[in-house]
Amino acid sequence: MVQEEVTDRLGRQLRDLRISVTDRCNFRCPYCMPRERFGEDHTFLPRRAFLSFEEIEKVVRACLPLGLDKVRLTGGEPLLRPGLAELVSRLSDLGVDLALTTNGSLLRRHADALSSAGLKRVTISLDAIDEEVHQKMSDSSVTVAEILDGIDAAIEVGLSPIKVNCVIKRGVNEEQAAKLVRHFRGTGVIVRFIEFMDVGRTNGWTLSEVIPSAALLNYLQTEFDLLPLESERSSDVAARWGHSDDSGEIGLISSVSEPFCGDCVRARISADGRLFTCLFASGGHDLRALIHDANGGDLTAAIAAIWQRRSDRYSELRSEETSALPRIEMSYIGG
Ligand code: GTP
Ligand code: 5AD
Ligand code: SF4
Ligand code: SF4
Repeated sequence: MVQEEVTDRLGRQLRDLRISVTDRCNFRCPYCMPRERFGEDHTFLPRRAFLSFEEIEKVVRACLPLGLDKVRLTGGEPLLRPGLAELVSRLSDLGVDLALTTNGSLLRRHADALSSAGLKRVTISLDAIDEEVHQKMSDSSVTVAEILDGIDAAIEVGLSPIKVNCVIKRGVNEEQAAKLVRHFRGTGVIVRFIEFMDVGRTNGWTLSEVIPSAALLNYLQTEFDLLPLESERSSDVAARWGHSDDSGEIGLISSVSEPFCGDCVRARISADGRLFTCLFASGGHDLRALIHDANGGDLTAAIAAIWQRRSDRYSELRSEETSALPRIEMSYIGG
């Protein structure tokens, strides 16, 4: 049966699938996996629970008839999953825009294999140029120099465009924003600043630690002459701004101050095969039985049915009441 594209209760299509390939990470960014909560005694998924690459491919193929055109591999840190290039190779011929989000620490080692396997572009998380601030933001022993070297490796093998994601926390790294813009200006790398979000239940989020993008832009405008650029797709989360001398662009992701749920075409799947229709969901839809079913139970129809019931718009409804609801951790369902 040829399945039609589906829309949810708010008329949104399913265009973008984010796949978490592992819930583990070698960083402990306090806004994502604070060490107090993700320490020695944290229970991660047992590796045997991870979907195999074949099963992940099956999920992606099942979403294609519904209108899927973009797939992002995430984690945790996806490059901790052994043999990730094999997954890239399985997905690179499916006609979707395939991207990877990584903290960059293992990129030098894997960039060549990923690119040869068919990966076109990559997004690297980097919250600071100054080592001391980076240590605070990532709580890891990996240095800024190693991450910059990973970015260079990605450039060398031709991954493009390369984006850098920087989460801004008031009082911790806001003065790094201009330094990052300065550093990457003229290199083709697009730096995007993300408002610190109340995702998960462990990062101790408070609104007072969020710098609204509008304020950050004002601050950046004192040094750089930035002009607004058109978005490529209405569902893009970043507002684009370009240097007036054409030396590059930056992005602002205002998930708290200007939520973009109205155009949210994103579904997420955890490493163990649960489908989430919102980053702030309290629970997922267990697809494991259908995924494991070798006789090909109708995964497409199941996903379509879940999508058609969807009415999530957490960021638009954010309030004291919603903040108290249980929420899944971002390292589990992927950025
Ligand atoms: P491109 O395909 O390069 O445009 O990537 P993207 O901007 O869609 O994806 P990316 O994963 O780089 O998103 C950047 C950040 O935006 C994420 O790390 C989140 O902080 C935030 N974000 C992405 N999607 C959502 C979403 O659906 N809801 C909310 N609230 N935030 C999101
Ligand atoms: N707020 C905003 N973005 C977050 N990320 C993780 N936790 C948060 C948070 N609390 C995003 C960052 C990071 C990616 C892996 O996930 O963009 O680069
Ligand atoms: Fe790891 Fe990325 Fe989360 Fe940092 S933000 S702890 S690098 S998954
Ligand atoms: Fe989509 Fe949920 Fe994010 Fe809104 S809060 S943009 S519905 S993932």
